[in-house]
Amino acid sequence: MVKAEGIRKSFGSKIVLRGIDLQVNEGETLAIFGPNGAGKTTLIRMITAVSPPTTGNIWVLGYDLKAHARMVKAMLGVVPQADNLDPDLTVLQNLMTFARYFEIPRQEARQRSMEVLRLFQLDDRCKGKIDELSGGMKRRLLIARGLINQPRILILDEPTIGLDPQAKYLVWDKLRELKSQGVTQLLPTQNMEEASTLCDRVAIMHQGKVLALDTPKKLIAQYVGDDIWEIEINSGEWDKLRGKLENNRLESEKVGGKLHVFHVSDRELLRRLVDIPESLSRRHATLEDVFFKITGRTLAE
Ligand SMILES: Nc1ncnc2c1ncn2[C@@H]1O[C@H](COP(=O)(O)OP(=O)(O)OP(=O)(O)O)[C@@H](O)[C@H]1O
Ligand SMILES: [Mg+2]
Repeated sequence: MVKAEGIRKSFGSKIVLRGIDLQVNEGETLAIFGPNGAGKTTLIRMITAVSPPTTGNIWVLGYDLKAHARMVKAMLGVVPQADNLDPDLTVLQNLMTFARYFEIPRQEARQRSMEVLRLFQLDDRCKGKIDELSGGMKRRLLIARGLINQPRILILDEPTIGLDPQAKYLVWDKLRELKSQGVTQLLPTQNMEEASTLCDRVAIMHQGKVLALDTPKKLIAQYVGDDIWEIEINSGEWDKLRGKLENNRLESEKVGGKLHVFHVSDRELLRRLVDIPESLSRRHATLEDVFFKITGRTLAE
């Protein structure tokens, strides 16, 4: 459905994308998980023909973007990260104007607009101004707008950022429903739960590269193991303990005031190495652990 090959992007001397290869298969939901500044939005802007790559090729539904940008744009549903709603128009007018880009006849545009507004529980706001909406309502409206052309491919940049739990679950339900109808989805997100519950595969992106790409289950098994052991000890003793762990070929990372140990196959060995048994606890590994393991703890920028 989407294929990107050798995508590089620079802004002046700043290199933002360093050779991205990515394929999104029919009906699949693919998450792009990565820290602030990793290049997720930049990549999405290339795939949605908003801005061209410096080098590399992109095909959507087999069409080369370089030659068919207009046509591809008409086939995609796009929800940008930044709000670009028109504040001079009402909620309904925003959708109607957007529908015009796709040459949807007026009558049908109105019907579809009301439908997507109902889907995201915004129909009672249809005559309201954009400025009267809360941040979360604007976010829901942006998602609703992305569905107006009934796309087969939906690209949502951080869809649930800033949403309260109810609104977040509402959006997740709708995205699942679209998936069951066969809509392919590409979803850059910071939300680990979103990536692991909605997505078939997850690409971990860091500093303009995709460093890993697989199902959440396989990523967890490969990079950190099914369980994480957490050690909560005085930070003064970390380095000494890390040294001991390393000597016994146990990988660890300092995260959020704790020491995380991965791929522990010999629990007794770990118990012996940690002097205070009460400081040791075990939990299931998540994509967030994979994220830390691959991208490191420090902020990228
Ligand atoms: N027009 C531009 N000119 C110069 N630099 C840019 C431009 N657009 C993006 N960048 C830089 O590219 C890098 C990647 O930005 P991008 O928005 O793609 O990251 P992101 O992964 O989407 O991050 P976030 O999680 O914060 O949304 C950043 O360092 C950003 O400053
Ligand atoms: Mg972004």
